Amino acid sequence: MAIVRIPDENRVLNDRAQVAEYLAGIGIEYERWVPAHEVNADATPEEILAAYGAEVERLKRRGGYATADVIDVDPETPNLETMLAKFNREHWHDEDEVRFIIQGRGIFHVHPELGSLTAIEVEAGDLIRVPRGTWHWFDLCGERRIRAIRLFQETAGWTPHYTESGVDRNYEPVCLGPSYLPSSTAPRPTVVPRS
Ligand SMILES: [Fe+2]
Repeated sequence: MAIVRIPDENRVLNDRAQVAEYLAGIGIEYERWVPAHEVNADATPEEILAAYGAEVERLKRRGGYATADVIDVDPETPNLETMLAKFNREHWHDEDEVRFIIQGRGIFHVHPELGSLTAIEVEAGDLIRVPRGTWHWFDLCGERRIRAIRLFQETAGWTPHYTESGVDRNYEPVCLGPSYLPSSTAPRPTVVPRS
């Protein structure tokens, strides 16, 4: 079950209905897929996509997604830091970012046009859709493990466009450990106009 934190308002939401309602209010779609299908820890991407075939097809029809794949990273993944560094700075994409978490955890920070900056810690069973154009960034949690189904309208559209606002530096990923120090007085720079 996702945990939503709104650091500038000192709020934490962990009730399923509250989380879904709050996230819908800032344009983020959230679902819990329960019960999740059983997949082995060493299941191949093909086996995972087959297990979740019905759900993936439903999402494809609903969101116009053409392809799905499985991202699978752990501390042993080659070039993990380089990979993570692409996505832990505030950015947006020209298409939706859709993730269904199979294993592990991660934290999306979403910087809505209206409303407070929101951290969404996701775990197995969570489906999140960050619509195209939404300013956001992503970090792994302390165990540096995530396996997730991704859906794409077209993979070329998923290139990150960086805002270079620097706001990401004001919000440590709280699931990394106890080093989180919210900076509620930090200004909110808007150096890149939203399209
Ligand atoms: Fe992204």
